Amino acid sequence: MKIGVIGGGQLGRMLALAGTPLGMNFAFLDPAPDACAAALGEHLLADYGDQEHLRQLANDVDLVTFEFESVPAETVAFLSQFVPVYPSAEALRIARDRWFEKSMFKDLGIPTPAFADIQSQADLHAAVASIGLPAVLKTRTLGYDGKGQKVLRTPEDVSGTFAELGSVPCLLEGFVPFTGEVSLIAVRARDGETRFYPLVHNTHDSGILRLSIASTDHPLQALAEDYAGRVLKQLDYVGVLAFEFFEVDGGLKANEIAPRVHNSGHWTTEGAECSQFENHLRAVAGLPLGSTAKVGESAMLNFIGEVPAVSGVIAVEDCHLHHYGKAFKAGRKVGHATVRSKDRATLDRQVKQVEALIKN
Ligand SMILES: Nc1ncnc2c1ncn2[C@@H]1O[C@H](COP(=O)(O)OP(=O)(O)O)[C@@H](O)[C@H]1O
Ligand SMILES: [Mg+2]
Repeated sequence: MKIGVIGGGQLGRMLALAGTPLGMNFAFLDPAPDACAAALGEHLLADYGDQEHLRQLANDVDLVTFEFESVPAETVAFLSQFVPVYPSAEALRIARDRWFEKSMFKDLGIPTPAFADIQSQADLHAAVASIGLPAVLKTRTLGYDGKGQKVLRTPEDVSGTFAELGSVPCLLEGFVPFTGEVSLIAVRARDGETRFYPLVHNTHDSGILRLSIASTDHPLQALAEDYAGRVLKQLDYVGVLAFEFFEVDGGLKANEIAPRVHNSGHWTTEGAECSQFENHLRAVAGLPLGSTAKVGESAMLNFIGEVPAVSGVIAVEDCHLHHYGKAFKAGRKVGHATVRSKDRATLDRQVKQVEALIKN
């Protein structure tokens, strides 16, 4: 089976690493000449709106999926005419736009921070008056790793901020004084069967994920599954979906969804019976889903800007390095490591050992 992937970054690369043993082949469409997934399959070097290459991809593969969500809706609609596309154009349309996404959460009774659609500086002033400060202004589309957003703490922060974010449609959100951030990686098959991985506790720095730790019997697991299950059903979703939550007052507030495999699920490659990458491929290909149970304790550390010396990373006990083969650049995700252990105390020590190797 040949899978077309829109996007050729590390997520595409890890999809191919998981799918190749299942006998799958891959073609990636990505406008970047140095797309790091290209080492694992064919690379169609083209823009996401390039209909000739999209047509070529559609003719050449059995189905198309995505490794990132900022694909124009027209691209997905165009592809869907010729080849099965999972997740659907509608799922992508909602997940790529923070206003549609949060409005869906609200309609489904899933708690969110207070939010308002912002089309102008005047809208922003009005929304700040009702939501209050601190608040976070985010572009509705194209934001990632904390890019395209600004925390507003004082009235001075509010003036001129709409232009600062590019005078594009934005969303204002109340700032959530969360006690923690967790994410739920879910997978839904074509026939509707749904499975969930254990909740992951995430630590961010400057909006970028640094550390994910898979939980054991998290008290909010059932609630997170209930919320995610509503979204999966609503979207008639096929594939892996990641759901980011704020933990607050002993409950959950929905932050965002990602219609794809997710950084906070990278630990599943070594830490779960079937990884998020393999399960995504199984789902979109109409194959039986694999077990989402974890194998012992696991944590994942991101390498941002550079990968530490390989010899140091793999010298840590039960530590598994993933080097994405990307050029090192400040603020860029260039690799990660998963550490595993039988018990949490040992895991915490291994995490500290890897952290000591990270310079930035
Ligand atoms: N409303 C909010 N209140 C508090 N912190 C927030 C809020 N929105 C975002 N953040 C912080 O910024 C991080 C990145 O924001 P997010 O909306 O998830 O954007 P991205 O698409 O960049 O992941 C979050 O993981 C969280 O740490
Ligand atoms: Mg996020």
